[in-house]
Order: sequence, then C-alpha cells, then structure tokens
Amino acid sequence: MNKLLIIGNWKCNPTTLAKAKQLFNSVKKGIKKIKNIEVVICPPFVYLSVLAASAKGYGGLRFGSQDCFWEDKGSFTGEISPAMLKDTGCEYVIIGHSERRKYQKETDEMINNKIKAALKAGLKVILCIEKIIQIKKDLKNIKKEQLKNLIIAYEPIFAIGTGKPCAVEKAKKMRNVIGNILKINPVLYGGSVNSQNANDYIEKAGFQGLLIGSASLNPKEFLAIVKNISKN
Ligand code: 13P
Repeated sequence: MNKLLIIGNWKCNPTTLAKAKQLFNSVKKGIKKIKNIEVVICPPFVYLSVLAASAKGYGGLRFGSQDCFWEDKGSFTGEISPAMLKDTGCEYVIIGHSERRKYQKETDEMINNKIKAALKAGLKVILCIEKIIQIKKDLKNIKKEQLKNLIIAYEPIFAIGTGKPCAVEKAKKMRNVIGNILKINPVLYGGSVNSQNANDYIEKAGFQGLLIGSASLNPKEFLAIVKNISKN
C-alpha cells in the first residue's frame, strides 16, 4: 500500500525567510522518526529553493509548490514553470486551489492546461476540487494512463480556514464518489483539519491523506497530526 500523504500548504505565509526556516526546521526535526507517512511542505515560491537546498540529501520531507504555469519558459512575466519547480527539487504541485479559482480567477481551462504541463514535467499533481463536475472539466482530454501521478484533494470551501470542518460522513460520501470516477488515484481531505479530527478522515472516511492549511503553520499542531496518522 502507498504511504499516507500529509501536505502542509503554507499559503502566503510566513512573512520572512527567517520565520520560514524556523518553521521548516521544527517540522524536519519532528518527523525524523516517521517512516510510514509522506510529508510534503508547500511553502511560497520565494522560500522553496532555499528550503529545498537546505534539505538536500534529507529523505524525510518532500516539497511541493502551491501553483505553476502551463508553459516551461518564455515571455510570461511573473510566472513559475513546471521545469523550474522540478529543478528546485519539487516533486508535487497543488493546482486549482479554491483560493486561486476565487482571487486569481483561474478557470477550469487554465487549470486543465496547468495539469497537463505539470504531469508532462513529471510533477505529482494535487488537484483541488469542491464539486465533482470539476474533475471532468479540469481533466478534459487527459488520458487515464497519464493520470498515474494525479492526487485529488476534496476541499469544501465552507471548511477552508473557518474552523468548521466537513462532517466526516459527508466527506466519506464525496470520497466514495470520487473513488468511483478515479479508481486508482489517492484522495485527500482538506478544510479545518487539526490534531483532533485528522484521524477520522483517514480511519472513518477512507481518505489517503490530508491537505492542511492553518495547522501547518503551527509545528506542534502539524507534528501532532502527522504522529496521530502514523499510528494507522
Ligand atoms: P485550512 O486547513 O486552514 O482550513 O486550509 C485548508 C486548505 O485550504 C489547504 O489547502
């Protein structure tokens, strides 16, 4: 069986590299003995290469980015490409987060292009969805055999950053619906996960991992989640 996946999405935090290093080092130290969970940190782009370089040769933590562009290079001011991410040591990329759909007005077509480019570059894609219809739209024209590096994250918007997690039964239903469409792909839950509720989404609802926002900024809480899940 594949390892359970715990992903820390730092979003637009923290505000300095010094604080990012401090947070990263606490997590790195804390997961040293954890062998049965894949822990992925997704810091802001500006910290990614520094942190990844500092962790070189250290097998315990993986890196992901919070977004990527759909071209590898060229005149696209401000964009970061999948090739650049690979080169910094990234293995994962989050695509289609609801905050990007909302604030950057990302459409399903843009998300579809990003997924194609990221998979082509050899990155593992964590596609965030709230509604089942997004799976069809965001994966349009991508063949099933190209989807072996796809992970779905079910993130209901009402649960994101609100402290109001999705009821486990409801999450389980969604997990099963997604599983019927994409049989082999891991499915994660995200939205107000903390050390008290984390295990329910794995044990009771059958998710293969968690996508964690706010709690990933608190090393004590994040490590408590990882340790609870590692007992499975
Ligand atoms: P919170 O854990 O802060 O609710 O955020 C979830 C999320 O959006 C992870 O991508």
